Amino acid sequence: MYNSKIIGLGKYVPDNVVTNDDLSKIMDTNDEWITERTGIKERRWVKEGSGDTTATMGVKAAKMAIERAGISKDDIDFIVFATLSPDMYFPGPGVQVQHALGIKTVGALDVRNQCSGFIYALSVADNFIKTGMYKNILVIGSELHSHGLDKTTRGRGVSVIFGDGAGAAILTREEGNKKGILSTHLHSQGEHAEELVLKAPGMGTRWVNDILADNNEDDESYFPYMNGQFVFKNAVVRFSEVIMEGLMANGLQKEAIDMLIPHQANLRIAQFIQNKFGLTNDQVFNNIQKYGNTTAASIPLALTEAWEAGKIKEGDTVVLAAFGSGFTWGSCIINW
Ligand SMILES: CC(C)(COP(=O)(O)OP(=O)(O)OC[C@H]1O[C@@H](n2cnc3c(N)ncnc32)[C@H](O)[C@@H]1OP(=O)(O)O)[C@@H](O)C(=O)NCCC(=O)NCCS
Repeated sequence: MYNSKIIGLGKYVPDNVVTNDDLSKIMDTNDEWITERTGIKERRWVKEGSGDTTATMGVKAAKMAIERAGISKDDIDFIVFATLSPDMYFPGPGVQVQHALGIKTVGALDVRNQCSGFIYALSVADNFIKTGMYKNILVIGSELHSHGLDKTTRGRGVSVIFGDGAGAAILTREEGNKKGILSTHLHSQGEHAEELVLKAPGMGTRWVNDILADNNEDDESYFPYMNGQFVFKNAVVRFSEVIMEGLMANGLQKEAIDMLIPHQANLRIAQFIQNKFGLTNDQVFNNIQKYGNTTAASIPLALTEAWEAGKIKEGDTVVLAAFGSGFTWGSCIINW
């Protein structure tokens, strides 16, 4: 019987810091509005010409994770890459990582479950390891949002929230079922697909040549749309449910949580969950203040920084949870 265990974590964020005040120079917004509603003070946005892409940022995070895991790239049996912002419409960035890192021709899977992407990716990797099929799996979450945001006042409800960055983890086989990833729990509710959505370009909606042919500046379909309040209300319910589901599946009470790392969607959502589960500030890790919402990258970025800060110790019960576009949501319960 096997479990999977995280033995290496890595991250990469672009150098370019964009503060709330910087945004107020390009759109009608202000630091007070953004801070009060989201907790975000600044985010990283890739600078044009820097060479950073979703794939290259993922590669940098992966290199750090591999080094910290103390393994070689040749030990990696499989790659899972979660993103909603791939460099190319197809193929996805998993294969770019395989090539850039010079990993042998192992399988590379792309996961596109938006803010829940990293939990979905971990679940896939964990289950490949639990079945005995693979031993070491590289899991990456990376996003380059900034090129695709509407950075005018029209898009301010969305663009102030999202940031760029990447995180990565190495999962390895652990004998027995007491340590490492104990379980993952995944959900979806497609009836709300259009409440947090990027509609175009899409084969079922409007493809690139339709958009170019129309040349219509009022067309918002190729910018992300979010029904913020509806997303907020659903997020707080689903986060709570899926954390409880994970705890109950392992016979744990909420008092067992040593560290909760919620997807960094909004500081108010994280604080709501913290209060609901009766956790102290030391038991919840947030870094949305520095990075904004980096979607599939947010959990590995936060997990890496929590680990770097010495906030996660061997034997701790670590809970990861996410909610986002789809709607999709999930949790992961770890005995570290
Ligand atoms: C997006 C969010 C911060 C908006 O906060 P809100 O309190 O719901 O604000 P509203 O959308 O109702 O907008 C309130 C007003 O602020 C304005 N506004 C929107 N964005 C603004 C900005 N960046 N700066 C200033 N004003 C802004 C709106 O136009 C609106 O003005 P009006 O009242 O004159 O119409 C909030 O809904 C939220 O956090 N939702 C969850 C988002 C999330 O977690 N997404 C990721 C999920 S994975």
